Amino acid sequence: MTGTHPGTGTGPGTGTGPGTAAAAETPQAVNRDAWDLRTGVHVGSDFYATAEISAGGSSLKPLERRLVGEVDGLRLLHLQCHFGLDTLSWARLGARATGVDFSPAAVRTARELAADARLDVAFHCADVQRLETPEEPYDVVVSSYGVLCWLGDLAAWADGIRRSLRPGGRFVLVEFHPMLEALEAGRVSGAGGYFRTAEPEAVWTEGSYTDAQAPIRYREYRWQHTLGEVVTALVSAGLDLVALEEYPYAAHPLADSLDTERDGWWTNGAEPHRYPCMFSVVAARRDG
Ligand SMILES: C[S@@+](CC[C@H](N)C(=O)[O-])C[C@H]1O[C@@H](n2cnc3c(N)ncnc32)[C@H](O)[C@@H]1O
Repeated sequence: MTGTHPGTGTGPGTGTGPGTAAAAETPQAVNRDAWDLRTGVHVGSDFYATAEISAGGSSLKPLERRLVGEVDGLRLLHLQCHFGLDTLSWARLGARATGVDFSPAAVRTARELAADARLDVAFHCADVQRLETPEEPYDVVVSSYGVLCWLGDLAAWADGIRRSLRPGGRFVLVEFHPMLEALEAGRVSGAGGYFRTAEPEAVWTEGSYTDAQAPIRYREYRWQHTLGEVVTALVSAGLDLVALEEYPYAAHPLADSLDTERDGWWTNGAEPHRYPCMFSVVAARRDG
């Protein structure tokens, strides 16, 4: 497998997470080490345009800005923030932003970028399936683009989101559509099925979605979650569904068939409305 999808691909680095040799064999530790590696490549890539965004630009797309709405003065938690470009961008819109990621290399880089940009943004290193309940709850929790396939326990993820929000606070997710995995090999993103298999498998991946030729090779575990599983996890945890949208375009050209770009969105030019490529969920914490 090559790293053509956000969530695959790596960069120069050591692959040394804080775990022990035994811990390194757990799926989460293997993935964390992979993301530590990727971070080094991603920071300098054209894909992420780090310098431009650090200098005052924004990495946010109109889609998530519409779904999240005005954030000025709001406490915003960004889950799986990678090295923090979206988190910094939310802060520039006035949010009191905090980013969380389990990759020490990503969090370290995010803190450096925040300091360089003189933005007061907190970054924490944590597994989003084991979030601590914050002393002061958040108004908004956001997560986007290549996040769910790294999570084996959606119930724990959703519970952490509920505990992080104030009553009535909103969670906004923008994610690649699980249907992509069911399409035929080479057509969009792979040869998997729509429904999840019991256990994830470790696969070796080369390169990265920011640079397919990056000279790196690493293991990773991925999980497949259907739309029903995602929404049910959130509703079961105590969030009410506000909106569920599906989109026939993707934020990145996930495979050769997504060959046409317009306004930053990629479609299959010959059949632009044939299948869903992304979805979004807006959900609100139900109770106190
Ligand atoms: C594709 S990136 C996130 C997308 C982000 N919008 C971006 O493009 O920068 C996925 C991120 O999830 C993080 N991640 C994966 N599993 C995680 C977990 N269990 N807890 C916290 N972060 C995790 C990785 O370290 C990585 O930074």
